[in-house]
Amino acid sequence: MAGTKFAYVRNFELPDPLLPDTYLVCRLDGHSFHRFSDEHGFSKPNDERALQLMDHAAKSTMIEFKDIMLAFGESDEFSFLFRKSTNLYNRRHSKILTMLTSYFTSCYVFNWSQYFPDTPLRYPPSFDGRIVVYPTERAIRDYFSWRQADTHINNLHNTIFWALIQKGGQTTTEAHATLRGTVSATKHEMLFSRFGINYNEISQRFKKGSVIVREIVHIPSHPQSINEGDEMPPLDPPRQKRSKAKKKNKLETTVEVLHCDIIGDEFWLARPHLLQN
Ligand code: GTP
Ligand code: MG
Repeated sequence: MAGTKFAYVRNFELPDPLLPDTYLVCRLDGHSFHRFSDEHGFSKPNDERALQLMDHAAKSTMIEFKDIMLAFGESDEFSFLFRKSTNLYNRRHSKILTMLTSYFTSCYVFNWSQYFPDTPLRYPPSFDGRIVVYPTERAIRDYFSWRQADTHINNLHNTIFWALIQKGGQTTTEAHATLRGTVSATKHEMLFSRFGINYNEISQRFKKGSVIVREIVHIPSHPQSINEGDEMPPLDPPRQKRSKAKKKNKLETTVEVLHCDIIGDEFWLARPHLLQN
């Protein structure tokens, strides 16, 4: 095999390692989901089923790839944080990125009918992906703060935008014009005075996005006490296998879906393991 005259082409395959000892953040984003959401009748501004399907795909991905400590999702995107010391696929950039992107996409399609039982997929969805390496805890905290702040800004904008259209009878052009130049406080006020919507009472899922976190649990004698998350349907059958750690009575991890603040310190102080190594 090795000695054929063709084998030299292998030399053109160059290594693409990611910098050692740095956090990896992989962000996936739905390709043309503006069109995909229209064609599949997603409700506006937020489709609970679509968001739950994203959460399910992300949770399955975290169960498959144990070095992912945290994921954050909103709309058609999910960011995954790998621990600093991960040696997954020898930190090969393209291997990690393509495995993660294709696994997530497969999970999205595999579980589609659980969330959209009456809406067949009209065409295969796809996701783009990128990996960025970050050197410090501060940069990771700021990265996730950036995504959650974005969730809030987009959700406030989309909530008032669609209220103007669905309840206020405006066209999309008129709604854009109404909102041009408005600041956050004006949007809150407009939502309340015109439509009786108190933004603070809107679902945490929509305001905060989805935080999927690897928690450490100790399972002394009742392994069945693992809480795999309260709003997910049963996991895909092959993924339910548990590790040997459980039998050996060691520390086990579980993956939880939350909709909480991750900009302040509280979330991180309660979970120092997320950024350690
Ligand atoms: P590219 O990512 O550049 O390929 O374009 P995109 O069309 O996916 O746009 P982008 O990722 O910036 O934004 C995601 C889009 O998905 C939103 O603008 C919405 O049109 C759509 N979308 C995501 N979540 C929902 C939802 O819950 N309901 C509805 N109706 N649409 C959604
Ligand atoms: Mg997109």
